[in-house]
Amino acid sequence: MDSVAFDSNRPDHIHAATGIWNAACGPDLSFSERFMRFNTDPAYWNGHGRHQAGQIAVIDGQPVGFVLASALKEPYAEPPYSGHIDALAVLPAYQRRGIGRALVAWAERWLREQGCANVSVGASVRTFVPGPPVELGSALFFAQRGYSRNGVCCDMARDLAGYTTPATALKARGVTVRPAQPEDRAALLGFLKREFPGGWYWECVQLLEAGSRISDYVILLSERGVDGALLVTFEDSYRPLDRFYPRRLPRPWGQLGSVGVSAECRGSGYGAALMDGALRYLQARGVRGCVIDWLVLVDFYAKFGFEVFRQYEMVNKDLQIGIA
Ligand SMILES: CC(C)(COP(=O)(O)OP(=O)(O)OC[C@H]1O[C@@H](n2cnc3c(N)ncnc32)[C@H](O)[C@@H]1OP(=O)(O)O)[C@@H](O)C(=O)NCCC(=O)NCCS
Repeated sequence: MDSVAFDSNRPDHIHAATGIWNAACGPDLSFSERFMRFNTDPAYWNGHGRHQAGQIAVIDGQPVGFVLASALKEPYAEPPYSGHIDALAVLPAYQRRGIGRALVAWAERWLREQGCANVSVGASVRTFVPGPPVELGSALFFAQRGYSRNGVCCDMARDLAGYTTPATALKARGVTVRPAQPEDRAALLGFLKREFPGGWYWECVQLLEAGSRISDYVILLSERGVDGALLVTFEDSYRPLDRFYPRRLPRPWGQLGSVGVSAECRGSGYGAALMDGALRYLQARGVRGCVIDWLVLVDFYAKFGFEVFRQYEMVNKDLQIGIA
């Protein structure tokens, strides 16, 4: 087996890696080349504290497998860093020949060189999957490589045709829920920086800088200003919907992110009001199949008629820095 460094500027590498993933994971978990370009975009990665690299396994001149790995450093994280195997796949006809094992070994070596003390499968900042999808059965492969399984997270979904506001969303008083407008930018970023200074704040900064429309954020306004926000995705959003693997659901598809409400306002029904406002916004725009991704606590979303749609293993491993 030969291997070449994955180069996201090369259309043939994007094409090969997308084709390998789609063949290995099947139609329900397939994605487009646009999504592969988005998740490996060189304008996003490298040189900004965000580092990603990959390898393509080649046999007889044909790409047969690939791995992508990533790590966040300053200003997002302090050493020792946490790393990710963003995505890994081998063509079905070439599985069980040691290719996956070699690609994982390469990724772990690269992550150690980056100063990572541990590695998670999936769950990277430009997410392919939150972890190995349960339906693929690949958690066992990682267990054999010394990875621990730390439970399961899930996506939930429902058809928004016929959605009506549940009683739980009628409790909040004196709040407005609506899509954010350009003049809300500073207040939205201020809210996220105050309440969710980790991933959600940086995600919003990056999305708005990249030209994502601000109305994909639905905000909750109390008398204090922005006290809640969540991100939605439409088929024409900057962030590709492929990420949520909605193919089994009726179109048009949509997605809704986790609900974020100011710590001191929790327990006042704001989260439910925000969820309902976002669901009605998606419904008014014609969305049918709607996914809420990467959840552990399902009860809150079940109140809005969502059911578990897909499950992912949460898998990680400690890396001994300095030991190859
Ligand atoms: C997971 C995957 C990459 C493994 O690739 P592979 O090239 O078949 O793996 P290898 O041949 O290197 O396997 C190494 C070992 O794991 C075992 N193994 C491989 N896949 C396995 C599986 N699904 N379940 C149990 N054991 C598995 C092999 O038998 C081998 O065992 P050995 O060391 O005792 O000989 C491949 O199955 C795949 O592409 N799956 C779909 C994509 C996916 O699930 N990716 C992970 C989420 S990002």
